[in-house]
Amino acid sequence: MTNRKPFVGGNWKMNLHGDEAALLAKQLVDSLPSNEKVDIAVFPAFTYLASVGAILKDSAVKLGAQDFYTTENGAYTGEVSLSMLKDVGVSVVLVGHSERRHVLGESNSTCNQKTLAALDAGMEVILCIGEKLEQREAGQTNFVNYGQMALGLAGVTAEQMSKITIAYEPVWAIGTGKTATPQDAQKAHAAIRNFLIFAYGQEVASTVRIQYGGSMKPGNASDLVGQDDIDGGLIGGAALKSSDFTAICEAAVSK
Ligand code: PGA
Repeated sequence: MTNRKPFVGGNWKMNLHGDEAALLAKQLVDSLPSNEKVDIAVFPAFTYLASVGAILKDSAVKLGAQDFYTTENGAYTGEVSLSMLKDVGVSVVLVGHSERRHVLGESNSTCNQKTLAALDAGMEVILCIGEKLEQREAGQTNFVNYGQMALGLAGVTAEQMSKITIAYEPVWAIGTGKTATPQDAQKAHAAIRNFLIFAYGQEVASTVRIQYGGSMKPGNASDLVGQDDIDGGLIGGAALKSSDFTAICEAAVSK
């Protein structure tokens, strides 16, 4: 048993328009467990951050952003800065989600710049890592995870690790309905923690939360978060329905 407080994130991706996003936020405020035993954040699309943030304002649910640009202001057409996100109440950001890495072409070096910029801005960071199917089949899961952590966390101090959560999201499990078995996921999470021990020492590594992501749903959440090194989840599809997301948060509470 550990004393790490589980952390569950709801990544809404490019889903839910204004009314739907507001409705879900209101439902979550009413149904989610308190933050005594679980930290919870939701990540709406940029256009609804302010409206969802207003609904979540007096709740324990943190407002998160799915992406951001590393520079403060200036001629960066289409981008949104960390200080702009702070203005609307964002306190946690995703970095390196597999869709940004593999669909939108983000490199480890971009992920590193984003991680450092977000920490500098006082944000919490969820650094997402995970292997593709062919890498898993070639036995490279730990190799990929270690590389993404070594490069993504370069320059992050032991002290700053208190603001970092790692999300292990095997790419083949995201949005596919295929989930890693709790035992396979635990094995990958334990290896991730070993890397953190190597990089930051036992004391720091034992406090870092490692979320599992990839088709987590009410039916498998308890078994997954029941594993020693699985400290919550990063949820996509099941985060779009308040009853499903609430059930996953409840499962994390009873870890
Ligand atoms: P999923 O997505 O739960 O739909 O698999 C997880 C994620 O992308 O963070």
